[in-house]
Amino acid sequence: MKLHGQAARTIWLNADGWSVGVIDQTRLPHELVKVTLTSMADAAHAIKSMQVRGAPLIGATAAYGLALALRDDASDTALADAIAHLAEQRPTAVNLRWALEDVRQVVQPLAQEARAAAAYSRALMICDEDAEMCRRIGLHGLELIRAISARKSGAPVNILTHCNAGWLACVDWGTATSPIYHAHDAGIAVHVFVDETRPRNQGASLTAFELLQHGVPHTLIVDNAGGHLMQTGEVDLVIVGTDRVTACGDVANKIGTYLKALAAHDNGVPFYVAMPHTTIDWSIDNGADIPIEERSGDEVLRMQGRSADGSIAAFDIAAPGTRARNPGFDVTPARLVTGFITERGVCRATRDGLLSLYPERREAAA
Ligand code: MRU
Repeated sequence: MKLHGQAARTIWLNADGWSVGVIDQTRLPHELVKVTLTSMADAAHAIKSMQVRGAPLIGATAAYGLALALRDDASDTALADAIAHLAEQRPTAVNLRWALEDVRQVVQPLAQEARAAAAYSRALMICDEDAEMCRRIGLHGLELIRAISARKSGAPVNILTHCNAGWLACVDWGTATSPIYHAHDAGIAVHVFVDETRPRNQGASLTAFELLQHGVPHTLIVDNAGGHLMQTGEVDLVIVGTDRVTACGDVANKIGTYLKALAAHDNGVPFYVAMPHTTIDWSIDNGADIPIEERSGDEVLRMQGRSADGSIAAFDIAAPGTRARNPGFDVTPARLVTGFITERGVCRATRDGLLSLYPERREAAA
């Protein structure tokens, strides 16, 4: 996708051939700051501090983090320690564990001197594959939007999304936003309601920024507005991303997604979840078994923004001494999900639906 008019990805190998570049997403939309990761500790910090965030990008960063670790020490012990350390940085997005396991399977059988190079090339493949999967998600989702557009005789299709499941959350294109970008590029009139997504405001600071960069019409709304807009018939379609989907189709995503799914269900608005196969956890059936990240209450008690003098600052929004609770994700039961948009096509949010697209996982999901 384009950033200030230039084609960009969220993660790349620098010209030195070994250090890794990322965009510091904690500084967007006010500042575009690129950060260089030179060690596994840098990669872990980037994931933990949410300089990089979004399930697919967390996975890609972890893969490069493992390559950086193996560059320093490629022993079996170092490999195991690096995987354990990177995996514990964020618990909910399964792409993190998927990417680490994927790289481990490639490098472990190799001689130590060959491991770092193999990890780098696998990390690059993970990035390229993610970009291609997101592109395909967009092509499949495009047809859903095209059908709604035809029913509305070409009037703008109003799509609501939550958090940032855009290209900034992935390597390119995004999951939930890819169908939107494809529809916009195909000349279909679309308009996006962007949930601000408290407490960290990924919708306001990242999704709105992305859509603005690409010229997609959009309107920022507070998290509480979605239900009302669905009741008044102003939302045609909800598309969100996900951090983990169980084998039965339950969906973990940014806190607040469940409430949007309930409102969509009550108002007959289709609610789709877009994801690549790397976000499916075939080892879990029940969404209640997905670990939910508990984050610092400070994120609830404070808000960051740009003040009138141009400086970036955080402001208290509650009285000192107020207690806050901050679960980062919630689980939307499969029964509230109209369908999944994947790189292989669209399916129902059931075990059979998922297996119809991924028949090779029948044993894993049994
Ligand atoms: O806490 P974050 O910003 O990493 O949460 C991101 C989300 O919940 C996204 O919707 C999800 O990772 C899907 S990204 C394609």
